[in-house]
Amino acid sequence: MTETLTLIRPDDWHLHLRDGAALAHTVAWSAAQFARAIVMPNLKPPVVDTAQALAYRERILAARPPGSSFEPLMTLYLTDATAPEEIARARSSGVVHGVKLYPAGATTNSDSGVTALQRVGPVLEAMQREGMPLLVHGEVTDPDIDIFDREAVFIDRHLEPIRRAFPQLKIVLEHITTAYAVDWVRAQGARDARGAPLQGATITAHHLLYSRNALFAGGLRPHYYCLPVLKRERHRVALLDAATGGDDRFFLGTDSAPHARAAKEAACGCAGCLTAPHALELYAQAFAQRDALARLEGFASRHGADFYGLPHNTARITLRRAPQPVEPSLPYLDDAIVPLAAGTTLDWRVDAG
Ligand code: DOR
Ligand code: ZN
Repeated sequence: MTETLTLIRPDDWHLHLRDGAALAHTVAWSAAQFARAIVMPNLKPPVVDTAQALAYRERILAARPPGSSFEPLMTLYLTDATAPEEIARARSSGVVHGVKLYPAGATTNSDSGVTALQRVGPVLEAMQREGMPLLVHGEVTDPDIDIFDREAVFIDRHLEPIRRAFPQLKIVLEHITTAYAVDWVRAQGARDARGAPLQGATITAHHLLYSRNALFAGGLRPHYYCLPVLKRERHRVALLDAATGGDDRFFLGTDSAPHARAAKEAACGCAGCLTAPHALELYAQAFAQRDALARLEGFASRHGADFYGLPHNTARITLRRAPQPVEPSLPYLDDAIVPLAAGTTLDWRVDAG
């Protein structure tokens, strides 16, 4: 049995850091494990242009623990009003690495999202030209569509038409949750000039570890509620196959999405799981289920960097097999926050390196 596992220091290709006082917590959690992270732009108000992304980046850098070289990779929030010229500006800034598509109303702070994809055609054209990745929250918002079908319907109605209209556009289907999404990614064979896939997907630790049963285990479990919502077991198994299979189109994105305890334990609780404080241990837990720890480095530390055309990190991190009880809660702002898997014991610990 593997007792220690040393990896290239990983990156998180999908992360919510929030803003203001929250940064003191969130940046420290991620910087303890990850070298870089793609930072989601769904602030209130959202990060819609390069100037705002640069300012947000400075606030994140200022919140780094002493000595940390954690690097935030910024994104813009695509709206109906995004100007195609903004894409070249974003690209030449060197700090904006993707543009996020939230269908309006799909999730937390998505009210400014895109209302109809035809409206953003010229922006997608500019992104294709500039090699700027489109990061997709792949769920339809049509209330007639069952919540468990929203990802598959989005792929058929919107994602496949986008891919056909912009065949050279780099696309990340974020936080995939279904076998249908895995199959869609696997069906895409196109590569860019560097040999990296044109289409890829991030997978969260929570979607690898839990099926929708976790939401209802002995009662309603708000800390397991996220969007896209957990799906049935056969989908979890398909995601685990994809993540552990060595395929470079799949890579780590925690979608760690902090909400204070009171906002989760409420009559209308917020969507989002906090995984950043134990992210790598949670992924190790999932990979160990398949005896695939040897594949964790590709998924966590190489595939995403290759997709985005960034160098691999040079630092290393070590996971050690040792019981780690997950705290029932952690301090957060003037409240507390409940991490995913609170009250359980993980089999791994990260030795800070
Ligand atoms: O569960 C989620 N939480 N899904 C998202 O897409 C957004 C995120 C958040 O920002 O809280
Ligand atoms: Zn997210």
